Parts: sequence; C-alpha cells; structure tokens
Amino acid sequence: CGIVGYAGSRPALGIVLDGLRRLEYRGYDSAGVAVVCGDELLTEKRAGKLANLEKALSERSSSETTDSGTVLGIGDGVTGIGHTRWATHGGPTDRNAHPHVARDGRVAVIHNGIIENFAKLRAELEADGVQFTSDTDTECAAHLLSAALTKLRTSGEPEGPQLLAAAMRAVCQRLEGAFTLLAVDASLPGTVVGARRNSPLVVGRGTGENYLASDVSAFIEHTREAVELGQDQVVLITGDTIEISDFAGQPATGKDFHIDWDASAAEKGGHEYFMLKEIAEQPQAIADTLLGRLTDSGEIMLDEVRLSDQDLRDVDKVFIVACGTAYHSGLVAKYAIEHWTRIPCEVELASEFRYRDPVLDRSTLVVAISQSGETMDTLMALRHAKAQKARVLAICNTNGSTIPRESDAVLYTHGGPEIAVASTKAFLTQLVACYLIGLHLAQVRGNLYADEAGAIVEQLLKTPDKIRELLAGIEPVRQLARELKAAPTVLFIGRHVGYPVALEGALKLKELAYMHAEGFAAGELKHGPIALIDQGTPVVCVVPSPAGRGMLHDKIVSNIQEVRARGARTIVIAEEGDTAVLPYADHVIYVPRTPTLLAPLMTTIPLQVFACEIAAARGHDVDQPRNLAKSVTVE
Ligand code: G6P
Repeated sequence: CGIVGYAGSRPALGIVLDGLRRLEYRGYDSAGVAVVCGDELLTEKRAGKLANLEKALSERSSSETTDSGTVLGIGDGVTGIGHTRWATHGGPTDRNAHPHVARDGRVAVIHNGIIENFAKLRAELEADGVQFTSDTDTECAAHLLSAALTKLRTSGEPEGPQLLAAAMRAVCQRLEGAFTLLAVDASLPGTVVGARRNSPLVVGRGTGENYLASDVSAFIEHTREAVELGQDQVVLITGDTIEISDFAGQPATGKDFHIDWDASAAEKGGHEYFMLKEIAEQPQAIADTLLGRLTDSGEIMLDEVRLSDQDLRDVDKVFIVACGTAYHSGLVAKYAIEHWTRIPCEVELASEFRYRDPVLDRSTLVVAISQSGETMDTLMALRHAKAQKARVLAICNTNGSTIPRESDAVLYTHGGPEIAVASTKAFLTQLVACYLIGLHLAQVRGNLYADEAGAIVEQLLKTPDKIRELLAGIEPVRQLARELKAAPTVLFIGRHVGYPVALEGALKLKELAYMHAEGFAAGELKHGPIALIDQGTPVVCVVPSPAGRGMLHDKIVSNIQEVRARGARTIVIAEEGDTAVLPYADHVIYVPRTPTLLAPLMTTIPLQVFACEIAAARGHDVDQPRNLAKSVTVE
C-alpha cells in the first residue's frame, strides 16, 4: 500500500492526492483521504483506482455540514493523510478502503502491512461494544487509538500534539505483525502521527511543512530533504517540527538523506506507459549500474561493504533469495557465480526459504535481491539468514530501504525509479549487479585475475549500445504480439541462462496480459509439458549463441524441432547471424551477439516488449495490472 501525510499551511488535499498518484504503483485496489478542516474530520474513500476517489471528491461541495454546523470543505484543511491500497484483509470495497475512522468520528487511521493479532484485538473491542464497519485489520488500530487518546485525556495529560504520539505508542505496543500507521485527530489540527514496524515510512522535511510517505516519490516535488525512520519508531509532524521517539517513548533519531534523482524521473516522459519508458531506459540503467565499479587496477568495487575480503574467502556456499522477477535474476546469477567462483550457489524463493530450515552458517553468503528493498518475504528470509549467522549481501535499487539497511553489504543497482508494476530495467540491472558480485567474489578468492574480470566488464560495458540497437529494430516484435493477442496459451523454452529468461518471459505475459503462459527448461519439455502443444500453440524459444556453447545451441535446435513437429508456431530468439535456426522458425527475432552468460541482457528485451504489446492490444492497464502491486510489504 502507499501512504502519505501532510502537515503545513497549504491545502492538504491536493498535496496528498498528488502523493497518492505517485504511490499508486504500490497498490490500487482502493484509495481514500482524511483531512482535518478547522477541528472537524472529513474523509472520502472509494474502491478502485485513484480516479474513482478523485471523482467522488469533485462531487463534494466547497463547504460541508457536520454535527457542529457548516464548516469548510475538504479542500480547505491543511492537515491530511491519504492511502492507496493493496488488499490483504477484506476485499477491495468502499467500506474496506482506508482511512478507517473510530466510532467517535474524530480519529482517522491508515495502514500498510498486516496486524497479525487483529482477530484477538477485534474480539476484545467488540466485547467492549465497538461495532466494526469494515472487514479490515486496520480498523482495530483506529478504535484502539481513539480509546488511548480518551484514556490519556481523562487521566489529565495536557492537550497538545504529544498526546497523539503517546496514544500511538500505546497502540503500537499492542500490535503484532508489520505495519506503518498514520493517524490524525480532529481535536489536534496541524498534527500527523506515524509509526513503523517492518514496513516503510520516510519523512520529507519542508519549510513550514512536513510530509510522511511510504517512499520519497510522494513528496519529491516539494522537498529533496528526507529522514529515514528506524524500526519501531513513532514520528510526530507539524508544519514546523519533526519529533521521533521509540515505542517506549524515548527520543530517537532518524537518518537524514538527500534525494538525488529529480521528479521528472518519475514521469512518463512522452511514453505511453511507464513500462515502455523503463524498457527504453535500460541502456542508461545498465550504464549507471556499471559506473565507477572498476578501479584503475581492475578490481570490482561494491557500495557498502561491511564484510572483509577474508569473510568472502571463507564463503563456501551462496544462497540467493528473492521474489518474482528478482528471483529470475538470481536464477541467471547462479550460472555465472558457480562458473566464475566454483562456489555452490542455490537460488530460492524468499517466501519458502526460512520455512524449510535451510543449512546456514558463518561461511554462507546469502544474496538478497530486491528492487524495492521492502519486500517482506525477502526481508524475512534475510533476517532468518542473519539469525543463523550467515553473511548477507543485498542487491537493491532503493537507497536506504530496509533490506540494504539490514544487510552486511550492499550493491545498489542505481537504475532510477521503476514505476510500472512489471519489472524491466530493475531486472536487467539486477543481472548486472549479480555479474559484478560474481566477479568480485572470484577476484577476492583468486579464481579470476583482474584482467579476466576486466574483459568481462568490458563486454558488459558494450551492452548499453547493443540494447539501443536491439530496441531500434523492435517493431516486428510488437507486430507479432498483436497477431498473437488471442492465443489461449504461450509457452517459453530455454536452456542454461535461457531457462530463467523463459520463466521471466512467461511471468511478464501472465502479469500483464492475464494469459496462460509457462516457461520450461527446453530439455524438460519432452518429459511432460510437450503434451500441452497443439496446432498453432506459440512457443517462444530462447536460443544461446552457437559460438560460446555450441553443444547447448544444437540441443535447443533439436528441442525446437520437437515442438514444431507437434504443430507449435515457433518464435525463435537467436543471436544475429545464427542461420541454423531458420528452417525451424516461424518467426525469428535476432539479438546482438553477446557472451553466453551475459545473453539474458539481450534476450529478455523482446519478451518484455512482447508482453507489454499483447497487454495493450487486449486493452489492459499495462502499468497497473489487476491484483498486483509493485512492492508487497506483507508475507
Ligand atoms: C512484486 C512485484 C514483482 C516483483 C516482486 C519482488 O510481487 O509485483 O514485479 O518482482 O514484488 O519485488 P522486489 O521489490 O523485492 O524486487
């Protein structure tokens, strides 16, 4: 979910809505706002995308009638919070949309995460006579906060913003699970309180105004100065103050940082979709990931390494943990890391990792890959690894997010903001980061010499231009996608690093086009899945270079023949000049020549464009596919 809070002297509604628009990629099942106007609380919330909320708001009149008479309209208040939701507890309906308001009608709460003990809390509150108006876990927090405020007031605590912070701390002590909470109290205009445990929350420091948000993109138009909150902290903002404390009430500090990308990086810049913009940005993103990573003496440099070379020499096993597209980058990395370092490397879905009790110790290196740095499954895998004394190295695109902060070393991908839910440039930059880590490990351990690593980096440095060339000739892929838009199923096959590329191609199609798609190891097809092939079934075949691993190439050419003999319509992705595939290809898409291990940097791109175009042709929302969210901060 995406959350925004504002306290200052300008009308809050527009600022909160702008922030929500930038955070909508984090969830878009429903949206809502709460604004304190004078000393009244006004709220609006709607199921569906932000546009539904905006429409409802535009239908409200400029002044409103409440129990205490006619007050200013929702557009006039200068304190507000807003939420865009990815549903966990309770379906995506108007009543389950946030904010949730306590029964006194004065306190509104928004929440990202899951309150795991909500059933117990709800039963307790119901026993006290509270009637719930939604199916969410969040509503408990609203009632608890209101009750805590009442208790503080009746015990004689002086009225003032501190009351809200104290009440929030009392609530947090009762909650289990992961949460970011923001709240306002109509009796304390000008104040917003926030709290975080395991879910993201950053503060934007303005002049005479301050912000709270899930990520900086929500307020980057207004300020570049931000404060990162630590775990289990409460923050109270007014227009002029930012006060941080821990859950026990002790003063605490956040970490100040400056945001160095500009707001336009989060705009579409003339492209029809963010996804197309981000596909087009891949050459630059890769160049940025590589920038400054090689020292004059040919050594690979990581960003923040709190591991000694000796620690890295002691590594006897690598585990890569990640989710979704990031997991696929890990699958590619396995081939490179094992080949260059000779250390066994396993790749595991983060959501499975800690539950199967993996064998870890001090000499295990766990590489956690995450674009957002906030994916809860990956974070929990990382924490499990640390608890078992393993070393953790993060590959991440988001500076200062939780996963890199909790890791022993970090390599940032520097890909810039990725807004489209389906990951593109983040995937390619994750691949580059994995290659760099593989090379670094190999160098430190003496498996590869500086000149060998340098030669591979040299090849990597050539990829941005090759991708530009590939993208310049991508039109036939779009044409083919439009032709295939009604196919009931599309299969993807590959071998070696082409196998994870096949998985990624299928995932993209599922995410964006809602089509049945599956990726297979080409050699495995004959052991079962080949039965899926019918007359005309499109099969996308990712073919490795004939130069690097000739045997591999020939094997997949045989696999292409097998599917074609059973009626498949073959779409072959091959290296320029590979004529051996021509007799078996209904369509050929050539990509520039690249060493085999690096080939996914090329072969993935036509598959991204293919999925994007099919989704558009089927009339789907490319940037915000149904049921998904970019950053999933629940397990
Ligand atoms: C979500 C997104 C996926 C993404 C995955 C991992 O499920 O919809 O596109 O690959 O999370 O995200 P991360 O930020 O950890 O890379």
